[in-house]
Amino acid sequence: MRAFYCILRAVCTERKNGLKVGGVAECLKATAEAIERAGAAIREGRLVAFPTETVYGLGADATDDKAVASIFEAKGRPRFNPLIVHVADFAEAEKHCVFNAEAEELARRFWPGGITLVLPRREDTPLSLLVSAGLDTVAIRVPAHETARALIKAAKRPLAAPSANPSGKVSPTCAAHVMEGLGGAPQLAFVLDGGPCPLGLESSVIGFPQGIPTLLRPGAVARDEIEKALGKPLANADTGAGEEGRASPGQLESHYAPGSPIRLNAREVAEDEVLLAFGPDAPEAKTSMNLSPSGDLGQAAANLFAMLRAIDAEARGRRIAIMPIPMTGLGEAINDRLKRAAAPRG
Ligand code: TXA
Ligand code: MG
Repeated sequence: MRAFYCILRAVCTERKNGLKVGGVAECLKATAEAIERAGAAIREGRLVAFPTETVYGLGADATDDKAVASIFEAKGRPRFNPLIVHVADFAEAEKHCVFNAEAEELARRFWPGGITLVLPRREDTPLSLLVSAGLDTVAIRVPAHETARALIKAAKRPLAAPSANPSGKVSPTCAAHVMEGLGGAPQLAFVLDGGPCPLGLESSVIGFPQGIPTLLRPGAVARDEIEKALGKPLANADTGAGEEGRASPGQLESHYAPGSPIRLNAREVAEDEVLLAFGPDAPEAKTSMNLSPSGDLGQAAANLFAMLRAIDAEARGRRIAIMPIPMTGLGEAINDRLKRAAAPRG
């Protein structure tokens, strides 16, 4: 465990040192005092980027239309995608949406943690309509990261927060990534630095179109764990229950995109390629990084976005060859992100 946090820290520090300072946002170590200041900024309608156990989020007061709108401005999102609302606990979540028995079971089993539930909005919720982007549902989760929890408490508001990256770019797993992508955004008051995110992949998103539990986005909690808790298989977004069962509206085909072209399932490396390896059987390459030399999918997930950034910087336009990742456990979410990173840019 320790070793792979070290890899992450090294990758993040490298990027920080390469950073051009001069952004508008202040990057603060996540001390109690910084979190209080950040909470006050949220209440004033400003944005704060904060660590969660999955990735860094770009947070706003979820009850303030203008603040929520400024998230889309800061990210340069092409259109209004619905956002995840982060709350302190189940009781708070129940004030905003209507739980069914299976959703309640998943909340009991996985919260606080890396699962987001998409549920019908309560009529009397004070949440901005913009967080639902025109749908009659809300995506909600209770994060486990202590800084995220402390910020929700300090702000005294539910926090709407997408991943804290410019639209279409790789999700940030450390504060330096956020500064690099959004540090210059005038809407962003603070970036709270709580170190690298332990899981490194966005939350798994589960909805209930026509009452059927459906995996809208594979993520930090593996499908089999969720299915075990439900005692039945999850439907798939693309084969799922009709219109609403399609993948999360924010799941653009090309997403998480580094600048260099990507070749997936590579078993050998060409002269002009750099290698993102997985497992002990990595072929020889001039430039390479290994998501997990031992073939551990949890370690690969935690390293994925930081290493995509780092290898992209090394590649300087050369193609990135990526070794096959098994589809078991967290491999489903890792392969989903890699497929999007490799998709033709729209
Ligand atoms: O781990 C995470 O989920 C991170 C951290 C910051 O919590 N957040 C995150 O947010 O990844 P974002 O905006 O990058 O992705 C939110 C996903 C999108 O795929 C979006 O379409 C889906 O959740 N979503 C949000 N509201 C929805 C809704 N009402 N119905 C269906 N999908 C929804
Ligand atoms: Mg995102």
